[in-house]
Amino acid sequence: MRKLLCAFVSALFLTMGFVSCQSDEEIKRQKYITEGILLYQNYCANCHQPKGQGLAALYPPIANSDYLQHKDSVICLIRYGMQGPVVVNGKTYNRVMPAQPQLSDLEVAELVTYIYNEWGKETQLTSLNTVKPQLENCRPKQ
Ligand code: HEC
Repeated sequence: MRKLLCAFVSALFLTMGFVSCQSDEEIKRQKYITEGILLYQNYCANCHQPKGQGLAALYPPIANSDYLQHKDSVICLIRYGMQGPVVVNGKTYNRVMPAQPQLSDLEVAELVTYIYNEWGKETQLTSLNTVKPQLENCRPKQ
């Protein structure tokens, strides 16, 4: 539907020399972000808080977290959880973040896209192709 509208609008404006249609990649990014927001509210905001600011000494912030430079680890901890001491923006946290094995590969990609666009200064999506092999790499061995 959106594509159709887009094609129609392009056709309309083509003769005037400007086409302002979003690329497929951009539409996909927006979709991931929209889904990511909902997933974040359902699965993360309880602890990390709605604006990602964290909660006291209990839950580290995600907003402007220097931990976000380890994207491979972030992908893994969303599905498999995290424990042991971790330093975020100079402060030490040491509690258990539970695993969320019910999150699909796509949902992890959407969450990571949202987090990095909202709080990691990125303007691109983190694709399923990035997330899938990484989740396979860090899957706990039985
Ligand atoms: C039950 C509370 C809880 C929930 C729910 C939770 N986390 Fe966490 N999260 C934690 C704790 C506690 C840590 C620090 C773990 C440690 O001390 O090793 C953490 C660490 C992190 C970190 C790395 C440190 C930082 O702040 O940058 C990220 C990123 C993160 N969580 C993202 C998420 C996302 C995304 C979700 C939702 C899918 C989520 N968390 C759900 C409690 C939670």
